[in-house]
Amino acid sequence: MLPKNILITQNPGSDLQKFLSEKKYTKIIVLADENTAVNCYPLVKDSLPAHSLIKIQSGEEAKNLHTCSIIWQAMTEARLDRHSALVIIGGGVLGDMGGFCAATYKRGIDFITLPTTLLAQADACIGGKLGIDFSHFKNHIGVFQEPALTLIDSGFLKTLPKNELRSGFAEVIKHALISDKKIWDEIRARELTDQPWETLVPKSVEFKSSIVQQDPYEKGLRKILNAGHTIGHALESFFLADGNRILHGEAIAAGLVAECYLATKRGLLDKPSMQEISNYVLKVFGKLSIEENKIKEIAERCLQDKKNKGNSVLGVLPNGIGRALWDVEISLGEIEDCLSYYQRLQT
Ligand SMILES: NC(=O)c1ccc[n+]([C@@H]2O[C@H](COP(=O)([O-])OP(=O)(O)OC[C@H]3O[C@@H](n4cnc5c(N)ncnc54)[C@H](O)[C@@H]3O)[C@@H](O)[C@H]2O)c1
Ligand SMILES: [Zn+2]
Repeated sequence: MLPKNILITQNPGSDLQKFLSEKKYTKIIVLADENTAVNCYPLVKDSLPAHSLIKIQSGEEAKNLHTCSIIWQAMTEARLDRHSALVIIGGGVLGDMGGFCAATYKRGIDFITLPTTLLAQADACIGGKLGIDFSHFKNHIGVFQEPALTLIDSGFLKTLPKNELRSGFAEVIKHALISDKKIWDEIRARELTDQPWETLVPKSVEFKSSIVQQDPYEKGLRKILNAGHTIGHALESFFLADGNRILHGEAIAAGLVAECYLATKRGLLDKPSMQEISNYVLKVFGKLSIEENKIKEIAERCLQDKKNKGNSVLGVLPNGIGRALWDVEISLGEIEDCLSYYQRLQT
């Protein structure tokens, strides 16, 4: 069961209107970026009471303290008191940063999130993690705080660029692989653009939300959500440093394939399942090009992972399709082996 503050809807405008009229906030301010201001805000604008709009620059590059100052300044100029609310219309960047600004403005005001990317709907908007990047460290400054309301409408995805849709799809695939073989079988029967988002997004939301309810502060079980992320994050940061930025989900998709290989080597995942996962992921995402002589450097990046303890890499491995183990100690040699396997794959 979903918590009361998460609502799956096909009519976000009327749900928003109903919620706001019950809450009787003193003032409403809306946060959007240049893309969501054009593609998403107009879909709910008329359902909002009088409000002002804060429009910021889109993208991860803007997820920093400077943009927070712009948001806090706009909130101050609009004279928001502690009984006001911020309505966030955007992807994971806006959700994380807008939520952080609301959670800290005057020690915290309510915020309402309307996630508009697949990544935000299936993943980022659930679990209360808010924050910004700082001094080249991702999500370095932040807090845990739940929104007053999250309204998830897969209809927003209609205008999302295909590469962004595909990036979020990696998290949807991850959720299926660690929770439910049946969902995975449904997913792999279709192409990316043929997926039934109106039923698939709620499945992802329900799964993540049930994990988060059982382990809100990531002491144990919640760590399974990091499947694909040990190697995926290393790839993401390697390509970023190389001046060749890739989207988060593109890195996670490759991470999932590489980590499934290790699960098979350790006898946790049978070979046909591993091949089925590799084939589908490569068909949808293609293959990242990794040079042989960079493998060691990428593997060493896994040591930077926040989830590690001391000098050993602690990762997540699938345990068959539909289950996963966390805090699995993985050696650097094994990670190099996974990356070599990935690099040798034929597309
Ligand atoms: N809090 C968490 O638990 C959590 C989990 C995963 C990721 N994240 C964070 O999420 C962020 C990535 O989020 P994202 O992938 O949604 O990226 P994003 O917010 O940058 O959005 C991607 C792009 O799509 C545009 N866009 C958004 N919705 C649109 C729509 N409906 N139509 C057209 N364009 C649209 C945006 O303007 C942006 O250019 C990262 O900063 C990451 O750290 C947070
Ligand atoms: Zn992720």
